[in-house]
Amino acid sequence: MLQAERAAGALLPEYHRPTPECPHPERWHMYDSMTAEAEVLEFLYTLVTTIKPALVVETGSFLGVSTIWIARALKANGLGKIISCEFDSVVFAKAREKIAASGLSEWIELRNESSLEMRVEGTIDLFFSDSDMPIRAAEVKRFLPQISSTGVVLIHDASSHLKVVREAAFELEQEGLLSCVFLPTPRGLVIAQKREGRR
Ligand SMILES: C[S@@+](CC[C@H](N)C(=O)[O-])C[C@H]1O[C@@H](n2cnc3c(N)ncnc32)[C@H](O)[C@@H]1O
Repeated sequence: MLQAERAAGALLPEYHRPTPECPHPERWHMYDSMTAEAEVLEFLYTLVTTIKPALVVETGSFLGVSTIWIARALKANGLGKIISCEFDSVVFAKAREKIAASGLSEWIELRNESSLEMRVEGTIDLFFSDSDMPIRAAEVKRFLPQISSTGVVLIHDASSHLKVVREAAFELEQEGLLSCVFLPTPRGLVIAQKREGRR
């Protein structure tokens, strides 16, 4: 949070280390090392305007920056809502302030809960997994029955450097649960779909 405060919204070159799949991370941009890369935020916006989800679920709000980008796209669509959960109560309070100041509150339901306990009603059209790295497989599996067979699953931090999430995504694929594409971004982003129910 201190790093984000010091940067005060300025864009910095991405500084996660080069990987074989993304040898030039400095070509990307970031606000801080927790918030998704600026280009990934733009991708989230465009994905939401492209698939027009009625229900988006995000795990790991941090300061609410990705939540706000998604909410801006929902507003552009004129439909939908995002439910985002943040486990840490101090971080949650900061995210709540930022969301209140964004003018986008009506599109956002922010919860001070763990992704492993949160309950949501209805069918999820877009699931963005961006919480604690070791629990990503567990949270994807937990919400999988509620994710639409035409919906999209995004799993952030799946680079070969941040191994644990990449391995979890490979396992989800090997278990026959997801079909994954590994986008070569600095921190890695998996875009996936449930295998069950595809036609
Ligand atoms: C990488 S940051 C999220 C960044 C945010 N999505 C963005 O791009 O602006 C991860 C956040 O997940 C939170 N977190 C960790 N474990 C969690 C859990 N089980 N449920 C919800 N949030 C969790 C952390 O406190 C942290 O703020």
